[in-house]
Amino acid sequence: MIIKKTMGLSGEVSIPGDKSISHRSVMLGSLAKGDTYVYGFLQGADCLSSISCFRAMGVNIENDGSKVIIHGNGLHGLKKPSGLLDVGNSGTTIRLMSGILAAQDFDVEVDGDSSIRKRPMGRIMTPLSLMGADIKSKNDNGCAPLLISGKKLKGINYISPVASAQVKSGILFAGLYADGETSVTEPYVSRNHTELMFKDFGADIETSGKTVTVKPAEELYARRIDVPGDISSAAYFIVAGLITKNSELTIKNVGINPTRDGMIEVCHMMGADMVIDKKNSDQAEPVADLTVRTSSLKGCTIGGELIPRLIDEIPAIAVMACFADGQTIIKDAAELKVKETNRIDTIVNNLKAMGADVIATDDGMIINGGKSLHGAVIDSKLDHRIAMSFAIAGLNADGETKILGSECVDISFPGFFEKLNICCK
Ligand code: S3P
Repeated sequence: MIIKKTMGLSGEVSIPGDKSISHRSVMLGSLAKGDTYVYGFLQGADCLSSISCFRAMGVNIENDGSKVIIHGNGLHGLKKPSGLLDVGNSGTTIRLMSGILAAQDFDVEVDGDSSIRKRPMGRIMTPLSLMGADIKSKNDNGCAPLLISGKKLKGINYISPVASAQVKSGILFAGLYADGETSVTEPYVSRNHTELMFKDFGADIETSGKTVTVKPAEELYARRIDVPGDISSAAYFIVAGLITKNSELTIKNVGINPTRDGMIEVCHMMGADMVIDKKNSDQAEPVADLTVRTSSLKGCTIGGELIPRLIDEIPAIAVMACFADGQTIIKDAAELKVKETNRIDTIVNNLKAMGADVIATDDGMIINGGKSLHGAVIDSKLDHRIAMSFAIAGLNADGETKILGSECVDISFPGFFEKLNICCK
């Protein structure tokens, strides 16, 4: 994809459904009794991988592109798939599904693409093994492919070394099948969609500070799910509207769950002109329309408990920091190294290629903003969030920016470039 400098952005943008909630809707819908109707499901490759895995385990899932209907098999109704389960590029699918598979009465192999095969699975294998699971890395390197042989599980109290919703959720899914209570304590609170949705589906789950406790379930019950727009996808348009001259963009129906709204906090810290029009503050998953206008931004420091609340938005935030006055420090974000790519490297190397003043640190990066960017060849390494973030940088760089592997945006945001183009003046 070739991106050229734009004169400004305007209009209204609707963004696709939340990736995390879409994955969980497939899993909970499959394990529930009854039919779960999902509206606003993200039709991205990652969530389609979740659908195909549960279809392979005998769940009838209809998907007409506008709604998804999951005819649940009940908590104990999954069937052994005829081949291996392929999660594609999706870390959420493999880590959450592992918790479910650990408790089934069959054995199965789970694999994914070359990126998935490099991502750490020990973080989920360790707690599941403590619960009595039989889960192994086939190549003995702590990564996929995983061999999982279902077992009777016991409840544990797990202190997680990482703030990771995927780890937490994998354990909580296993906890539905355990012989007693299971709790997970995190260093910082990570996104809580699993907790909210478990409750909605009838599971007995409680949160107290950084600890979540689930009781074994008899059954889960189907629910209608309205998936809000994904704030992680909104992030590209938020940044685009703020850093591009002559711009005003309204991004509709964005999920602003407080465990996910770190990006909004950072925009405020940087002095962004952003209006938040809340739609349903009383809901567990609140949504808002966000209007952003060209802003003079200033650098800030981002770390600690904020990091899990904006982890997927850091590539977009790093681009924004290049257009802010002064220094932005991103710290406590070593988790970036184990995302779809090592995002500390992919962000820093690509920003440098565009002429930014940025250095990588052990747990993040330091960006000295205010230097103008020039076009460059950007290697996305097939990381969707890198491709989209650098498209936004390209709109504000002199000359042409070429994004290699740009088709990877389909993982979380099919139609991204078309939407962006419509907003360009
Ligand atoms: C996700 C959790 C986060 C996030 C990922 C989706 C989820 O990963 O980066 O895109 O849906 O639970 P970690 O749990 O590894 O932080």
